[in-house]
Amino acid sequence: MNLLAIETSCDETAAAVIAATGDTAAPWRIRSSIVASQTAIHREWGGVVPELASRQHVRDICGVVESALGEAGIGRRDLGAIAVTQGPGLVGSLLVGVSFAKAYAWANGLPVVAVHHLAGHIESLTLAHGELPLPAAVLVVSGGHTSLYFVRTPGSYQLVGRTRDDAAGEAYDKVAKLLGLGYPGGPVIDRLARQGNGERIRLPATRLTHADRNAPRATGADLLPAEIARRTDFSFSGLKTAVLRLVEERQRALATPRLPPPEIADICAAFQRVVVDALLDRTFEAAGWLGARSIGIAGGVSANSALRAAAEARGVAAGIPVFVPPISLSTDNAAMIGAAGLRRLEGGVASPLDFNAEASLVLS
Ligand code: KG4
Ligand code: ZN
Repeated sequence: MNLLAIETSCDETAAAVIAATGDTAAPWRIRSSIVASQTAIHREWGGVVPELASRQHVRDICGVVESALGEAGIGRRDLGAIAVTQGPGLVGSLLVGVSFAKAYAWANGLPVVAVHHLAGHIESLTLAHGELPLPAAVLVVSGGHTSLYFVRTPGSYQLVGRTRDDAAGEAYDKVAKLLGLGYPGGPVIDRLARQGNGERIRLPATRLTHADRNAPRATGADLLPAEIARRTDFSFSGLKTAVLRLVEERQRALATPRLPPPEIADICAAFQRVVVDALLDRTFEAAGWLGARSIGIAGGVSANSALRAAAEARGVAAGIPVFVPPISLSTDNAAMIGAAGLRRLEGGVASPLDFNAEASLVLS
């Protein structure tokens, strides 16, 4: 069965064709995956401008879907279903994909399945590597999310930790902005950090030890004793503010808004070291507490070279396999939405045509 997948939750218009293989160990295969990035448009503004994003999705969606079908070498009659990101994300952007998918499904008599964006990131791991050894602890770390899920059975996702403030990718983007490095910040900080010395500057790491009284109850809240459950959350806003203070202090000391490039590289390396350690400390601790047999790390920040290298090294040291998607499946794409869509269809869940885009959709 071929499934057409559509993803428009933020600033990438993406479509893909995914086939079910019939192989239970490696259930899906990518036949095509097209991503039209809007980065060049938003870079000028220093971040994603929602209205511009929606308008660009409208311009791109038809061509991107045609390319995905063309590259897969199939026509619409060869499709068995459609999957689309329902949320979370920018509602105007989501609406373009959701409206397109529903209209296309209705016109072609196909079932449509609404997919949670983070389920897509989680399933990018199975799409790339086959079924993970379960149970698994999966960290989804992107521009909008830093969430830790426990996957006990295929297609079940229980939230066991998440950021209390900024997502890790958001911290990358904001730190890059205040260092004058442009948007998006992740790839450029990743590159500059390799030239810097992360030991020279000390930045604070946040370790949460108390429960979040404002939080909705996590779906996996009962999986861990309360003493431990409150320690699996993340926080990156303090780190971001520490970088801001440091940069302001150095600008004053040097009497120039432009810090020397070697100093910027050192700040990038120090910032990245704290982020990578925080992400991996929490994930590996939680995996141990939960008795996970494997660890997955997905989402845009999983493209980070230092995070990948450190995750692999820690996995070897801890004797637990660590899975990360290839870069093309780390950042937003529709292939992962197709994988999550097929996962839902395997469970017999197609969506009635009256579902709507939801900016704050919760995964459970
Ligand atoms: O998953 P994604 O494409 O979109 C969201 O769902 O948010 O993630 C985008 C985020 C951005 O914040 C970007 O700066 C970050 O992923 N990112 C990286 C790298 N590549 C992308 N962060 C660190 N290192 C990278 N190499
Ligand atoms: Zn994403």
